[in-house]
Amino acid sequence: MSNLINILLALILAIASVNASAWQRDAMTVIELRCEYLEEPLAIDTIEPRLSWQLEGKTRGARQTAYQIIVSSTRSNLDADKGDLWDTGKVTSNETIQISYRGKPLQSRQHCFWKVRAWDQNNQASNWSGRSEWAMGLLKPTDWAATWIGDRQPSVQDVSATQLRREFDLKSKPRRAVVYASALGVYELYINGRRVGNQMLAPEFTDYNTRTQYQAYDVTALVRPGANAIGALLGDGWYAGGIGLARSVIKKPRNIYGDHPRLIAQLELELPDGTKEQIVSDEKWRTSREGPIRSSDILDGEAYDARREMPGWDNAGFDDKKWNAADVASNMRTVLVSQPNEPICGYRELKAQSMTEPKPGVFVFDLGQNMVGRCRLKAKASSGTTVTIKHAEMLSDDGTIYTENLRAAQQTDKYTFRSNEVESFEPHFTYHGFRYVELTGLKTRPAIDAITGRVFHSQMNEVGAFFTSDEALNKLWSNILWTQRGNMMSIPTDCPQRDERLGWMGDIQIFVGTGIFNMDMAAFFTKWMRDVRDAQAEDGRFADFSPHPFGKDKIFTGVPGWGDAGIVVPWRVWQQYGDKRMLAENFDSGKRWIEFIRSNNPNLLWKNKRGNDYGDWLNSDTLIYEGFPNKGGQVPKEIFATMMFAYASDLVSRMATVLGKEDDANKYRQLFDDIRAAFNKAYVTEHGRIQGDTQAGYAIALHFNLLPERLRPLAVKYMLEGIDRYKGHMSTGFHSTYRMMLELTGSGHNDIAYKLINNRSFPSWGYSIDNGATTIWERWDGYVKGRGFQDKGMNSFNHYAIGAVGEWMYRVILGINNDDEHPAYEHFVIHPYPGGGLKFARGLYDSVRGKIESGWSVAAGKLRMNIKVPANTTATVYVPAKDSRDVIESNKPAKTAAGVKFLKMENGSAVFLVESGSYFFEVAYDGEKQ
Ligand code: BGC
Repeated sequence: MSNLINILLALILAIASVNASAWQRDAMTVIELRCEYLEEPLAIDTIEPRLSWQLEGKTRGARQTAYQIIVSSTRSNLDADKGDLWDTGKVTSNETIQISYRGKPLQSRQHCFWKVRAWDQNNQASNWSGRSEWAMGLLKPTDWAATWIGDRQPSVQDVSATQLRREFDLKSKPRRAVVYASALGVYELYINGRRVGNQMLAPEFTDYNTRTQYQAYDVTALVRPGANAIGALLGDGWYAGGIGLARSVIKKPRNIYGDHPRLIAQLELELPDGTKEQIVSDEKWRTSREGPIRSSDILDGEAYDARREMPGWDNAGFDDKKWNAADVASNMRTVLVSQPNEPICGYRELKAQSMTEPKPGVFVFDLGQNMVGRCRLKAKASSGTTVTIKHAEMLSDDGTIYTENLRAAQQTDKYTFRSNEVESFEPHFTYHGFRYVELTGLKTRPAIDAITGRVFHSQMNEVGAFFTSDEALNKLWSNILWTQRGNMMSIPTDCPQRDERLGWMGDIQIFVGTGIFNMDMAAFFTKWMRDVRDAQAEDGRFADFSPHPFGKDKIFTGVPGWGDAGIVVPWRVWQQYGDKRMLAENFDSGKRWIEFIRSNNPNLLWKNKRGNDYGDWLNSDTLIYEGFPNKGGQVPKEIFATMMFAYASDLVSRMATVLGKEDDANKYRQLFDDIRAAFNKAYVTEHGRIQGDTQAGYAIALHFNLLPERLRPLAVKYMLEGIDRYKGHMSTGFHSTYRMMLELTGSGHNDIAYKLINNRSFPSWGYSIDNGATTIWERWDGYVKGRGFQDKGMNSFNHYAIGAVGEWMYRVILGINNDDEHPAYEHFVIHPYPGGGLKFARGLYDSVRGKIESGWSVAAGKLRMNIKVPANTTATVYVPAKDSRDVIESNKPAKTAAGVKFLKMENGSAVFLVESGSYFFEVAYDGEKQ
C-alpha cells in the first residue's frame, strides 16, 4: 500500500514538475523599457520619472499579476540585483505603464540603471528584462555654472553663423563625460573634430521668452587625455531668424524673440580618480563670424561658402588669435528645461528619380515624394563657383519648379565650391518642404546623384501599419504618414514649406487621433502642451497656434476649434497612454479657456469673442471648380463655435472625473447639459433641422452628442440628404470631415463612408491621388487639371488636416478602437467593417501596452479575421455573423475556444471577449460585393 502511495506521490510530483517547466517555458518576456516615454534618456528633470514596459506572452491569457523593479546607481549593482536606489520587491499589480519612481530622492545628474521582472497568471516569474538606464538632468538653476555666450555683434546686419570654441587639457581619459547645451538660436556642437550627437535644429522651437530646452549628450567617446577642443556652430533659428507669418502680419522679417543668438554649454567630466571637472561656456571662449555659413534661416535657407571653412577649428591646436573673446550675457530671462521629447533627426534618404533640364542650365530633380528636410549636394565645379538649390513641391506646366505657393519663404540654399574636387554639402540650420529641387550655376550637366533628399523630423517611433487590397487606400495612408513626418518638427506645424510652419491648434485638434495611431506621440505632446500653456493669454484664451511669438494677448488668439486643442489633445493623450499627469497639467488651463468663453457668452451660445473665427475651415464654399455646388457647405460659425464650447466643457468634466475632482466634474457636466439645451433651443427645429442644414452641422452635433436621442436618426437622415445634394460628395470643412466619416459608420451607413473614401471625383482624397499627390493637400482643389493651381496665397501640398480621416481608417477598416473605461488599451475593441469592395485589410497599432494586430479577408463566401491581443490586455471582438454558432476560431466553435467568451449578438455581429493572444476567426459571409 505504502508503495502505491509512493508511486502516486512520485507521479504527482513528476506531473507538477513537467507543469512547472512548461510554465517556465511559457513565462512572459519583459521588453521595451521606457522612462518618461523615452529610450534611455540622459536628462530627466521630473523628480519622480514614470517607468513603463511591455510584455510578450507565449500563451493565450498571458497577463501580469506582479512586478519587481530594481533601480541601481551603478551597472554592477544592478547586475548583482542590488537596488540601492529603489527595489520595489514583488508588487502585486497588473500595471505596466505610468509607474512613478518612488525610491531614494533623485539628485541632479544621478545615473540610474534599472530592470524589471513580471509574474504571470500562474505566479511564474519572467527572467529579468535587459538592462536599461536613465540619467537625471540639471534640476536646479544653480547646477548651471555655464553662462550664455555669443559673438559681440548681434545678428542684425551680419547674419552669418557664429563659431565658438575653446580648448582644454585633461590629465586622463574621463570615466564619463556628459555635455549639457542649449542656445537662443540653433546650434551644433563639435568635440575634437567630431559632431556631438545627431540632433538637428536643437534646442528646437519653444517660447524662448518663457523656456528654452537644453539637450544632454554622452561624449565619453569623444574626449581624450591631453589637449581637447570643444566648438559650436550657432545660427539664428526661430529665435533670431524668420518665423512664419511674422513678415506679413507683424512686418518683422526676423529677430522675433531676440537679435543676439547665444550658446550655453557645460561639459562635465568624471575622471578615473573620482574627481570632477567642468568646462563651461564663459568669457574664455573665442568667437568668429568669418566661417562658411554666411546666412541661415529656417524659412529662407542657407548660404555656405566652402572657401571660408577653417580646417581644424574644432580641434586642439587651431590658431584662434584673430577670433574675438566671447560676449557674456547675464540675466537672461529664459528658463532652461530639459527636452522631454524625441529630438529632430533623420535616417531616411531619397534618391532622385529623374532629372530634367526645362531651360538651359536649369536642372530639376524629382525625388518622387513630397518630403521635408533638406538636400545633400554632391558635385564638382571650379573653386568660387556658386550653385543655387531651390526647393518646391510642384512643377509648373513648363517643367520648371512652382514656387508661388511658398509666399515669402525662399527655401533656397547656396553653395560656393572651394576646390576643383567633388564636394559634398548639406545645410545646417534650415529646413524645406519639397519634392522637386532646382539646381543652377553648374557649367556642366550634373549626375542624377548630385542631389539626395535627407528626410528629418521629430523622431518618434512609427507605430502604425495599414495595408489593404486597394492601392488608392494604401496610397492615402502613405500620404497621411508622409504628411505627418513632414509636419512634426518640434511642434505640430500646419505646413512645412511656405512662410507659415506654425503650431496651428485647429489642425492638430483634429489630426491628433490619426497622429497617435501613426507615431508614438506621448513625449512630443508632453513638450508641445507646455508650448500651448505658455501661449495662453492672461484672460484664458488659448492661442490659435503655439508657440505664439507675436503677443499672445493681442492677435491670433481665442478661436473656436483652434483654442480647444488645449483640451482635446491632453484628453486624447490620456485615452491612448493613460497619462494622468497630462490631464493634471492641463486641467486648470482648460478650465480657464472654458471660463473665458462662458464669461463672454452668459447665454451659452458662443456669439461673442471668437477671435479670427475661422469656422469649419476649407469647407466646400471655398472650392473653385465648375460643376460642383460650392455654396452652402459651411456650418454657420456661431453654431460651430457653440458646438465646440459644448464639446470642450464635456471633456473638462471627463478630465475632472479622472482626476477625482468631483465638484468640477459635476459643474462642467452641468455646463455641457446647459450648452446642449441652449444649442437645441436656438438652432435646432423640433424636426431636427440644424440651422444652415449642412452635412457638417449634423456630423458635429452627432459626434459631440448634442442632440436628444429622438432627433439623432433625423440628423443622420439630413446628413445623408446633404451628401446627396453634393452628388455623393462631402461639403464639409476640416473639422467635420473625419467626424462625419465616423458618424456615418456609427449610424449604420458605413457603405456611404466607404463610398466617400473611395470617391475619385472631386472633391475627394482619391482625386488628389489620381493627380499625383504623395502627401495630403491643404485644399481638395489645390491643383485641378485644366484650371491649374488654387490661390497661391494659401495652397500647401503638405497639410495633414484632411488626413484626419486616417483615424477612421484605423478604427473602421482595421477596427482598432480604444475603450475609455480602460484607457491605454488595457482593454480595447476590435470592430472592423469589411466592405467598400475590399478583399482584405490588415494592419497594426503598437500601443503603449504592445502590438495590436487586426486583419481580415473575404473570399469564397467566408470572412476570416486574424487578431493579436498583447499580453496583459483583453479585447472585445466583433465578428459579423448571423448566428454566434457559425463563428469558428482556430478550427473550433468560437464559443468553446480557449481564451474566448461569447458575450452577445449586436447589430449583425457576434461579440466575444478575448484574452491576450493570437486568434483566427472564420465565418460564412455573403457581403463580398459591398
Ligand atoms: C493654416 C491652417 C490654419 C489656418 C487658420 C492657415 O494659414 O495653414 O491650416 O488652421 O490658417 O485658419
